[in-house]
Amino acid sequence: EKLNKKQRLYDINKEAARYFYYQLKTQRGQKALEYFKKRQITIDVIKKFGLGYANYYGDDLYKYLKAKQYSEALLLEAGIIVKDKKNNYTDRFWNRVMFPIFDVHNRVIAFGGRVLGDGNPKYLNSPETTLFDKSNNLYALNIARTARKDHILIVEGYMDVISLHQAGYNQTVASLGTAFTSGQARLLKRYTDNVLIAYDNDEAGRKATLRSIPILKEAGLTVKVLNLNPYKDPDDFINNLGPKTFDQRIENAQNSFFFELEVLNQDYNVEDPDQKTQFIRKIASKIVEMTNDIEKDNYIEAVTKNYQINKEHFINLVNELGSKVG
Ligand code: UTP
Ligand code: MN
Ligand code: MN
Ligand code: MN
Ligand code: MN
Repeated sequence: EKLNKKQRLYDINKEAARYFYYQLKTQRGQKALEYFKKRQITIDVIKKFGLGYANYYGDDLYKYLKAKQYSEALLLEAGIIVKDKKNNYTDRFWNRVMFPIFDVHNRVIAFGGRVLGDGNPKYLNSPETTLFDKSNNLYALNIARTARKDHILIVEGYMDVISLHQAGYNQTVASLGTAFTSGQARLLKRYTDNVLIAYDNDEAGRKATLRSIPILKEAGLTVKVLNLNPYKDPDDFINNLGPKTFDQRIENAQNSFFFELEVLNQDYNVEDPDQKTQFIRKIASKIVEMTNDIEKDNYIEAVTKNYQINKEHFINLVNELGSKVG
């Protein structure tokens, strides 16, 4: 009974994805195709990701699925329709380009829909459902898991994933704008030991990067951070500078500990001896947290060189702070 219901929910999502895809061939669907074209997405990639268009009218998909004998209760539960103020059923997504979200078994479990121009919200996503647990899925992991690369690239958004895959970086996944979870980190660890974070080059992106680093490390992943300057996100970067330059950014991605220190450094004026002392204490306290002695040694070596700190004194400080923590 329960399994059967779950299967019906998968079926609804699959039918909806097909429906959105076929809308691209309709008259109204042309503006979605134009939108994709404007964003430099090829037809092949549209097919590969099963991109589509949600019609302008309010209940086309609802009627279509109802005619296929899916109950309102199930369509609501799938997150495909909503009840409006007058208690009428309508589609959730109107006049948006559609991005189906697949699980690692290539089953459609949810959707993201983007407005064709400016508008709010920019992206509308399916709610969490029996099938769609946001904190345990990653966009495009169904493809990235089969990529033969020594790392997985983590980006924020649908368009970042799609542009990077199109440029050959099929090792890219997106966390879809949410804070990275330990579930997602453990999921990644099944497929790789190394991750590269390429979140947006803005304050929100840097904060999200800082929050994600310890979660990813906790899962046993080695973490690096990619520099997208002067562009705002990977999609923007690849469309402007192309894969050769992006390869160099991958090559030169920054060790996540140094990234953390660089951000921290901005809070201190190291020309001021007192502030430099505070900064050094902060670094030492981070090194104390490391559980592996070799790792500790390597970072002590690097940090003392980098910030011109007397190594012997720094080791004393680390030991002193370590004994306090116990
Ligand atoms: P961004 O605001 O960085 O958008 O959100 P973007 O991906 O660069 O979008 P484009 O290039 O303007 O099309 C990053 C991700 O956060 C989620 C989406 O998954 C988006 O791709 N998001 C963002 C939402 O879910 N809702 C929103 O309203 C905005
Ligand atoms: Mn492994
Ligand atoms: Mn962003
Ligand atoms: Mn973007
Ligand atoms: Mn962005």
